[in-house]
Amino acid sequence: MFSLFIMPALLSLSACSQSGINKKVGPPPLFVSSTDPHFIKRGQYLAEHVARCISCHSERDAEVFSGPVVAGTEGMGGQSWPLSGGHLGLLTAGNLSPTGIGEWSDGQVLYAMTAGVHKDGHALFPVMPYPAFSQMTESDAKAVVSYLRTLAPVKDDPIPRRLSVVSRRVANRWAASPLWSDPPGLKDILAQGEYLSRTAGCTDCHSQQDDHKVVPKLMFGGGVAFKMSMGTAISSNISPADGYGLGYWSEEDFLNKFRAYREPAALGVEAGPGAPNTVMPWFDYAGMTDEDLKAVWAYLSAQTPIDNEVTQTWIAH
Ligand code: HEC
Ligand code: HEC
Repeated sequence: MFSLFIMPALLSLSACSQSGINKKVGPPPLFVSSTDPHFIKRGQYLAEHVARCISCHSERDAEVFSGPVVAGTEGMGGQSWPLSGGHLGLLTAGNLSPTGIGEWSDGQVLYAMTAGVHKDGHALFPVMPYPAFSQMTESDAKAVVSYLRTLAPVKDDPIPRRLSVVSRRVANRWAASPLWSDPPGLKDILAQGEYLSRTAGCTDCHSQQDDHKVVPKLMFGGGVAFKMSMGTAISSNISPADGYGLGYWSEEDFLNKFRAYREPAALGVEAGPGAPNTVMPWFDYAGMTDEDLKAVWAYLSAQTPIDNEVTQTWIAH
């Protein structure tokens, strides 16, 4: 009797001292990152050009339109997001380099990325797009973590987040075990485009949301406002609506819009007082392959046109 009673007590004690277990989601998976260069290369492509890990978790140049990542700060963290829309607090993206998450197990990093659980067990607020990353393929998510393990150490100690009790509860509602999706078929260009648009956040930023969920009837209709330091950026209608959206665009127009950010001239377009800026991470996506951009184009062109005219994409404060 006694021994039966004492065993669980000891077990729960050891679970506490490890901490890190989120009661709702459970323990992180056992996973060891890979050192296979091809796999790491895939992870780097996703982290830099699709899932935007590096763009949110580095310093960005606020004086250039669309804020390219400042070289040498990759993975350093420190950018912050004041919450809005009924939420109170300030989030800070943490340091993903060895000086930040070096002590985390690979499983803990994978879990933070795809389930929204921090090493110490608390739920991350979904400004960190883990609800989208939870629908990546398991292989792609593991490739990203394997790439993060190759980042050079960059010293920074981002300030801890501040979050109201209610917002912490919302975060906890979102944290969940990853859903994982099957790899889209190589020939299924629409499925590829859907996968990329979701992982890259196009869907989230270009669709009105209700309770943090995309309103299906307004998907890709734009008009979502993002407060920045000098003004408010408003996302464009990228549904195939004639006049308001991409209805009159050709595939070539679409590709050229992104390709422009591969040119050095793009670094000369100033933001700052009096000049517009954007939250659209053009420099990240410019590094997407033409093949992937074509898949996104094909997918967007196949969506329902949304009748929503976005007249301005920048309002200065
Ligand atoms: C839109 C910006 C954004 C993107 C994109 C993003 N993150 Fe985050 N990330 C955040 C924020 C903000 C937090 C802190 C959330 C909190 O504390 O509740 C965070 C937290 C984390 C954490 C937990 C440690 C920490 O920083 O507190 C990890 C690990 C992480 N992100 C990895 C990733 C990976 C890997 C990717 C790409 C697959 C990624 N992030 C993409 C904004 C982002
Ligand atoms: C963080 C939010 C955010 C994300 C993520 C995002 N966008 Fe945008 N996007 C915007 C905003 C804001 C604008 C309007 C300002 C500008 O043109 O930069 C915009 C503009 C655009 C435009 C220009 C439309 C026009 O009429 O000129 C296109 C095309 C576009 N986005 C496509 C995409 C695609 C494709 C993705 C995903 C690969 C994506 N966006 C991801 C916020 C976002």
